Amino acid sequence: MMDEYRLALIPGDGIGTEVTDAAMRVTSAAAARFGFGLSSETFPWSCDHYRTTGEMMPGDGIEILRGFDAILLGAVGWPASVPDSVSLHGLLLPIRKAFNQYANIRPHRLLKGVEGPLRSGGFDILCVRENTEGEYSGAGGRVHQGTGNEVAVETAIFTRAGVERILRFGFEQARARRGHLTSVTKSNAQKYSMVFWDEVTEELAADYPDVTVSRMHIDAMAAKMVMAPRDLDVVVASNLFGDILTDLGAAIQGGLGFAASANINPERTAPSMFEPVHGSAPDIAGRNIANPIAAIWSAAQMLDHLGESEAAGAVLAAIETATSRGIGTRPGLNTTDEITAAVLAAMEG
Ligand code: IPM
Ligand code: MN
Repeated sequence: MMDEYRLALIPGDGIGTEVTDAAMRVTSAAAARFGFGLSSETFPWSCDHYRTTGEMMPGDGIEILRGFDAILLGAVGWPASVPDSVSLHGLLLPIRKAFNQYANIRPHRLLKGVEGPLRSGGFDILCVRENTEGEYSGAGGRVHQGTGNEVAVETAIFTRAGVERILRFGFEQARARRGHLTSVTKSNAQKYSMVFWDEVTEELAADYPDVTVSRMHIDAMAAKMVMAPRDLDVVVASNLFGDILTDLGAAIQGGLGFAASANINPERTAPSMFEPVHGSAPDIAGRNIANPIAAIWSAAQMLDHLGESEAAGAVLAAIETATSRGIGTRPGLNTTDEITAAVLAAMEG
């Protein structure tokens, strides 16, 4: 019997709706060509939804999503009407945590035909960002608000289970790629959590003798990604460090419009979620000029995760056929629809 996947679509805010639509058109074309079935349900959870209902998603939103094979998300956030700290903590971040999507995988390389800002383009980095704890643990509080004695505390929490599982995931990725892992910390300044992270890295390295391991501090890594990105293979970092480095990664690959991302639950105990790194981009929303490539590439990551690796490869190849023909390689060059059409045409041809 033909495999059929059930997808939950959360287009969300701003350009999220435009790029999710593009990604779904390409995913459906891949399903037709590679002979698997797709059904999807679209959820209107967004800042608009918040304005009418007072919540980003219903109270049982997580339970609703749990029944799907994967989630495709566009973007969350519309700061003009809902503070980011409310919208993100009401939708994106709880999904990552509730579904144990602890590995946020973000590939950074130049697609054919795309010129990044660096002189040396030959890099291929896979950033593995811890996605459920660390600086995003949400542990903290404020006292004496609005007074001169005000105090705000936000504690980064690192557990052995959490650090070990993300590093193991990184080692496995390195093993399947070029065999090099760089673990990013700031253990010269943060003497508890980051020294602990370094120790776990060293312990686990013994289990992966085929992987060479380097350790770098986040500041030096930021410089390296600009000066010598070719030297990097798999980069593993904590939640916040990985967040920052992957915007840098997006920049060196030509911009956020090319930056794909997968929030993976490796044990498959709950659905994984796929989303472009860019946000809702209010400044260009609704104008058919957002680059859908990051979302389409994220959909390819989704197909790969679902076991349709041939289809995933074909989608990625189609993206690169389009970019190698000069489509979508620079902001403003083509419309969202034109880029999507070029990818669809490449899939057929
Ligand atoms: C990302 C985003 C989110 C994050 C924000 C919107 C909370 O920047 O996915 O990189 O920090 O994780
Ligand atoms: Mn980010």
